[in-house]
Amino acid sequence: MTDLMKGDVLDALSKVVDPEVKKDLVSAGKIKDVSIDGSNIKIILGVSSPAHHIKSKLETSINDTLKKELKGIDKIDIQFQSAPASAKPKKESLLENVKHTIAVASGKGGVGKSTVAVNLAVALAKQGHKVGLLDADIYGPSIPLMLGLNEKPKIYQDSGSAKMLPLENYGIKVMSIGFLLDDNAPVIWRGPMASGAVKQFMSDVKWDELDYLIFDLPPGTGDIQLTLVQSIPLSGAVIVTTPQEVSLIDARKGLQMFGRVNVPVFGIVENMSYFIAPDTGNKYDIFGTGGGERFAKEFDVNFLGGIPIDPRIREGGDKGVPIVYDLPDSEHAKSIFTIAENLTKEAEKSGSSGKPKVEILLGDN
Ligand SMILES: Nc1ncnc2c1ncn2[C@@H]1O[C@H](COP(=O)(O)OP(=O)(O)OP(=O)(O)O)[C@@H](O)[C@H]1O
Ligand SMILES: [Mg+2]
Repeated sequence: MTDLMKGDVLDALSKVVDPEVKKDLVSAGKIKDVSIDGSNIKIILGVSSPAHHIKSKLETSINDTLKKELKGIDKIDIQFQSAPASAKPKKESLLENVKHTIAVASGKGGVGKSTVAVNLAVALAKQGHKVGLLDADIYGPSIPLMLGLNEKPKIYQDSGSAKMLPLENYGIKVMSIGFLLDDNAPVIWRGPMASGAVKQFMSDVKWDELDYLIFDLPPGTGDIQLTLVQSIPLSGAVIVTTPQEVSLIDARKGLQMFGRVNVPVFGIVENMSYFIAPDTGNKYDIFGTGGGERFAKEFDVNFLGGIPIDPRIREGGDKGVPIVYDLPDSEHAKSIFTIAENLTKEAEKSGSSGKPKVEILLGDN
C-alpha cells in the first residue's frame, strides 16, 4: 500500500468545486488543514454551518473525488470550521447602547419591508422593549410617511460634539434621511455615500439605550446593499418575502448576501401571505400557499410568521398610523405581534454580542 501524501490529497481537493464561490476548494482558500493518519484523512474546511443540502453536497463530492483520485483511503473525516469574523465594524464602538441591531431586508422591491419594519418596531415597543428604527433606505425613504413624522430632528450638544436627536412616535425613536431632505428633492447616492450616510445615523444620532434598533434596508442585493450591510454592525437580519416564486428567488439572494458578511438570518417573514375576507372571515391564499415556510425549511432558517394582505395595512402606512397601533386587536396586528415575539426569541438566543450564530453559505444563484 502506498502512503497517502498531503500534496496528493490537496491535488485531489483542487478538483472539488466550492458551490459558493464556484472555484475549486484549494484556490478558494477553503482548505484550512489536511492531516493524514495511515489510511485516514482529516480535512478541515473553512466554511461554517452551511445550509444542510450544501454541506452534504460538498461532503459527497469530496468523498467521491478523493476515493476516485487516490488509492488506499479508509476513512475521510470532514469538519467545517467558522471562517474568521469579517472586518465588520464593532457594535461596541458605534452603537454601544444598543443590544440588538436587526436589518429588515428583501431581495425584491415592494414586498413590504418598510411596512414590516415599522409594524415590527411598534409591536416590539408595545411588548415592552425600547426600540429605535433607522431608515437605511436613503434612496426612497418611506418611514417618515408611514409614521406620520415630518419634522427636522433637533440638535443636541453632547460634551463638545453635536448629535441629532431621533424623532419619536408610537413609542419608538426614529431616524430617516427623509427628515433632512425637502419633500421633492431627488436623492442620488452612490454606494459609499449611501453607507456613509447610514454610518452617520449610527454615530451622530443620540440613540440612548435601546433593546432593538431596526434597520429598514433598500431593496436589492447588489453592491450598494452589500456595502451597506457591511457598514452596519448587525446582530441579525429578517428577510421579507411574498409567497410567489419570483419573490422567493430574490429572498434567496438576500440570504446569500447576509451569509457573505457573516450576519445570521433570524428568520423569514411572509408578507401578503393570505387574505381574510371581512364578511366571512374565510382565508384566501392569493399568491399561493406555504411558499415562505417551504423556503425557510429548504434553507434551514426560521419561519417567523405570515402577515395577511389587507387594505387597512396599506392605509395605515399611507396615513402614518401602523396597524399594530391603530387596530391592535385585529387578526392582522396579532400576526405581527407573533412575529415580534418569535424574533425576540431568536435575537435573545443569539445573544447581544452581535456575533453571528450561524452562517449561511449558499450555492449557485
Ligand atoms: N400586508 C399588506 N397588505 C396590504 N398592503 C401592504 C401590505 N404590506 C405592504 N403593503 C403595501 O405595499 C406597498 C409596498 O410596501 P412597502 O413600501 O412596505 O414595501 P418595501 O418592500 O419597503 O418597498 P421598497 O422596496 O420600495 O422599499 C405599500 O403601499 C404598502 O402599504
Ligand atoms: Mg421600503
